[in-house]
Amino acid sequence: MTHIEAKLKKNSLIIDEFLDLNLPSGNGLNKKLFRAMRYSTISGGKKIRAFLLVETAKLLNINNGNKKLTKTKLQELIAVASAVEAIHTYSLIHDDLPDMDNALIRRGKPTTHIKFNPYTAILTGDALLSWAFQIIGDKNLIKDPKVRSEICYILSKAIGPYGMVGGQQADMDLNNKSNLSLKQIEWIQNHKTGSLISCCSQLAAILLDVNNIQTEIITNYARKLGLAFQISDDLLDVYGDEIMIGKPINQDFKNETPNFVSVLGKKKAIKKALEVSEEAISLILKFNRGTENLVSLAKYTVNRNN
Ligand code: IPE
Ligand code: IPE
Ligand code: MG
Ligand code: MG
Ligand code: MG
Repeated sequence: MTHIEAKLKKNSLIIDEFLDLNLPSGNGLNKKLFRAMRYSTISGGKKIRAFLLVETAKLLNINNGNKKLTKTKLQELIAVASAVEAIHTYSLIHDDLPDMDNALIRRGKPTTHIKFNPYTAILTGDALLSWAFQIIGDKNLIKDPKVRSEICYILSKAIGPYGMVGGQQADMDLNNKSNLSLKQIEWIQNHKTGSLISCCSQLAAILLDVNNIQTEIITNYARKLGLAFQISDDLLDVYGDEIMIGKPINQDFKNETPNFVSVLGKKKAIKKALEVSEEAISLILKFNRGTENLVSLAKYTVNRNN
């Protein structure tokens, strides 16, 4: 395991602990929904969005003259990061449904609609999305009402019609259109994947109450990271190892999903991913201190095998 993989693992355990403690559980008539919410989120996925959120906060904190994040601030960051991961999981559960990408395996195990059934998968996605905003609105978890409402606005904008869901709509509508331009592919990928990823840095800035040129730089870094991440997701879809990535390969080809590999070819897609990751790194290196983890994350994004 590389250094960054070990750090991601540690981050995943922290998020899993929060999810385990806070996701609904019990034996009521809705118990299947609770089970499916836990099945799909806990101990699954790399949780890079949560990692990005917490690491952005650490970077902003240290570059604004502070020593260490307080325990209270760290707990707030973990709560928001867990909500983001719940939203990301909801998007994957719906993405895997028969009427979308029709995938049978996710995170190395049966997708939610296979393990349970399609209606439970739809409802589990809905429930995770609502639960995420319940967490963000909880005054016991995030103290400042202004921070709660700003997070709510920025996050809902990033995942809604102008962001992630808008990107997913275009991704599906433009299936089997072979003459898509690079610009159109970038638009789709920046929306379906980039929007939520770049939002993580904005959320960290809100939680730290930093609103200056640094916020702009780190958000631009996260935008580049999101794009590099989706290019490498498209590459893994063709050249990845099914066991390692924990999901089926050749999905994009099978579904005729717009992607970077079909438009650019393997060599140019790899080159583009590396270029975008380098651009992300050069933005992080504008900060004086504490840059190591986010530089490693940008490198990992394009060198990963899962
Ligand atoms: C997969 O995201 C779908 C995309 C948006 C590219 P991840 O690769 O982050 O999935 P998990 O959370 O690690 O399973
Ligand atoms: C999914 O993109 C993006 C969202 C769920 C928002 P993909 O369809 O490429 O993700 P994978 O490859 O199934 O993980
Ligand atoms: Mg898809
Ligand atoms: Mg998919
Ligand atoms: Mg994909």
